[in-house]
Amino acid sequence: MGIMNKLITQNKEEEKREVLRLIDVLHDENYLSRAEFLFLLKNISLDELEYLKDKADQVRNRVYGKRVFMRGLIEFSNYCKQGCNYCGIRAMNKGVDRYRLDKETILDCAKEGYRLGYRTFVLQSGEDPKFDDEVMCDIIRSIKSEFPDTAVTLSVGEKTREQYQKYYDAGADRYLLRHETANKEHYEKLHPESMSFDNRMECLKNLKDIGYQTGCGIMINSPGQSDETLADDLEFIASFKPHMVGIGPFLNHSETPFAGFDDGTINQTSVMVALVRLILPEVLLPATTALGTLDGRGREMVLKAGANVVMPNLSPTEQRAKYEIYENKICTGDEAAHCRGCIETRIHFTGYEVDMSIGHHKSMEV
Ligand code: 5AD
Ligand code: FES
Repeated sequence: MGIMNKLITQNKEEEKREVLRLIDVLHDENYLSRAEFLFLLKNISLDELEYLKDKADQVRNRVYGKRVFMRGLIEFSNYCKQGCNYCGIRAMNKGVDRYRLDKETILDCAKEGYRLGYRTFVLQSGEDPKFDDEVMCDIIRSIKSEFPDTAVTLSVGEKTREQYQKYYDAGADRYLLRHETANKEHYEKLHPESMSFDNRMECLKNLKDIGYQTGCGIMINSPGQSDETLADDLEFIASFKPHMVGIGPFLNHSETPFAGFDDGTINQTSVMVALVRLILPEVLLPATTALGTLDGRGREMVLKAGANVVMPNLSPTEQRAKYEIYENKICTGDEAAHCRGCIETRIHFTGYEVDMSIGHHKSMEV
């Protein structure tokens, strides 16, 4: 049993009662001990998952209403110097057709996004040294001066505190850096020796310190993950108090050391999304593209579990398929305008509303 052994229906009455009680306590107090988180993860079944999702949905409705925030994603380079074992664009994967967008192309993507109504741009790339601090700051400044009523979110990996400060001073508002796992041993299984858990944590601390709305996050069912490491993640999230948490299923990529490992499931992902909503009622939680890739209605299902952000793609269609962190990624052939319409239909169909505003974290609203 446990969320890592898929969710089953046959748990005992006694366990059911205790799981439901813990969900209520978490809802009321936003906190559980590690032992309680672990009990919950080990004993939750599909029945209690429905209860948990409803609670998370209620909390989201209370804090943000039925609104789902839209962010325009610009994947501007798939060059990466790192070698994360799960990632399809890791440096060692020689089969990747590498590309970089120049500043003009990035600004064109933002312009089209702005025209479609987006007021947050997420600039994402591998760790590409060609985009040095000067180039990055120039891009950030250009976007912010051309579109002053927008937020810029960066997702460009591990940098020094000084670099993060420079980007912030250039106008970046938010930063996404998934911690991937709060368990050091597990982190080392997911990453090459050149990367360190301590540095990852230091990066996150620096980002928050500097003043970014900061996002951490994990993949679900990454190799080596267990109910124990997930309990560590929940404890970490409760104490770090990020503004955003990206949670999506791990999807194995055939050209990585994790080829052939099991993918995460929608239900496993829903458990973690809903728990994080109960721990941090004001958190911004994306229904990730990986979920949409796993299942045609994956994103919709997680919106019902407390998620309230989607990140449709604004990258040029010619390059999209090349940003292949996992295979069979959705939307690779679709124009930005098509994605905008598609996701809107899905959100409405699920009973929610599209919110095109800048969509800051509740604590940052003026
Ligand atoms: N499956 C799912 N998510 C992945 N990521 C990277 N590779 C994969 C994969 N194969 C996630 C990581 C990273 C984010 C940008 O994408 O969590 O932080
Ligand atoms: Fe891109 Fe549906 S969100 S096609």
